Amino acid sequence: MNLFSKYSTESSFLTGDLEKLSSSYMPDSFPHRESEIDHMVKVLSSILRDMRPSNMLIYGKTGTGKTSTTSFVVSMLREAAPEKVSVCYVNCQVYDSPYSILVNMVNAISSDEEDQIPPLGWPQDRIFTELVSRINSRRIYYVIVLDEVDKLIQKNGSDALYVILKVLDDSRLARASIIGITNDANFLERLDPRVRSRMNQESIMFSPYNAQQLKDIISYRLKGLVKEGSIDESALNLCSAIGAQEHGDARKALDLMRISIEIAVRENREKVTDKEVYEARDRYEMNVVHAAISSLPLQSKMVLLSSVVTQELSKRLMITGEIFENYRNICTELGFIPLSSRRVSDILSELEEFGLLSSTTRSMGRYGRTRFIRVLGDTGQFKRYLMEDSNLSHFMGSRISRQSRFENLDGAQPEMTLDSLDKAFSDFSGSEPSRE
Ligand SMILES: Nc1ncnc2c1ncn2[C@@H]1O[C@H](COP(=O)(O)OP(=O)(O)O)[C@@H](O)[C@H]1O
Ligand SMILES: [Mg+2]
Repeated sequence: MNLFSKYSTESSFLTGDLEKLSSSYMPDSFPHRESEIDHMVKVLSSILRDMRPSNMLIYGKTGTGKTSTTSFVVSMLREAAPEKVSVCYVNCQVYDSPYSILVNMVNAISSDEEDQIPPLGWPQDRIFTELVSRINSRRIYYVIVLDEVDKLIQKNGSDALYVILKVLDDSRLARASIIGITNDANFLERLDPRVRSRMNQESIMFSPYNAQQLKDIISYRLKGLVKEGSIDESALNLCSAIGAQEHGDARKALDLMRISIEIAVRENREKVTDKEVYEARDRYEMNVVHAAISSLPLQSKMVLLSSVVTQELSKRLMITGEIFENYRNICTELGFIPLSSRRVSDILSELEEFGLLSSTTRSMGRYGRTRFIRVLGDTGQFKRYLMEDSNLSHFMGSRISRQSRFENLDGAQPEMTLDSLDKAFSDFSGSEPSRE
């Protein structure tokens, strides 16, 4: 028997390309985003009446359809007025300096290959002038999409946006507008007032999808992909529920469905049931955590390693001080120079953003306000992933102190054990942050 025959797709229930469920595929319709799309279309339709559209700011959590609906709307605009519009899409997570964004803009608006300017080597003011002159060379409208625009501000402050807005001011002949996309609800507050009012001429909120909406979205995206009856209703419900729980994330819900189908097809199962979805979830989470950990810079890995080791030893909420102490021990053992406690504190916040740690600040009587930290996930698994890095693979923990000098915190707050953490954290996230 041919070794591959049991993997043949003949018995499979797939009738289309599974890629259609992936996030790179552009669907031709977006259920439950009709009003947001309509709003964007209205604003951009000014172009058809020869007026510059307002700048827009699009907010919403990850996976709520911001990037895909924006590309959808913008591509329709291009189709409707090909002579009048040029679109430039920049992902600020990838291009995170004003310089690289300007270069990207210049290159995006020049059709000729030869006109492309190199990613390095030109002084910023030359790029700036070049951009203004190229924009001004044609009397058309430019729509500049700055996706993940908060990343630009995080790295460079509001000045970065100011530079870009200034380009628009200096372009007399042409008209350009910006669509900023962000998942940071406090984005506007971080902006300098000069920049804020101009970025926020129109704002559109993408609220999280609920389970029913996600179910509609998955069902819509599944059309023509699988034979009738091959996906259990309960499996569909489960994917939607997990996505809804995860801040209404359509990407996660769709990924789970795609992986579930892959599992069922590969294992020659008759259909997709809850079992496949649970397997898919385990695989998904492992992959996400693994990718997040292995992409961390070395110092962040050492801070995470310290958090993991400290948590394994103390089995309770950790405080920044003990993580820092063990981090220094790890640096000494492995022969690296430790960063300052302030940098470590920043790194802890970054790890929290990645969803690897979670922290809460509580008032601790005579200890004042204290930041408590926990590792979100299986510490053993985290350690295995961390030790894949050859810089850390010979870590033994020889200098880690068994007895933390912060141990008396237990006496101060005896209920701070790992078991009571979930409650502490849910209390914390359910209530307004205190302003003492
Ligand atoms: N209403 C919807 N209908 C169909 N697919 C959707 C819808 N909303 C989101 N998606 C899909 O979910 C995935 C994540 O969307 P994306 O636009 O990347 O989210 P965001 O940019 O907000 O993080 C993409 O594959 C997208 O096509
Ligand atoms: Mg996006």
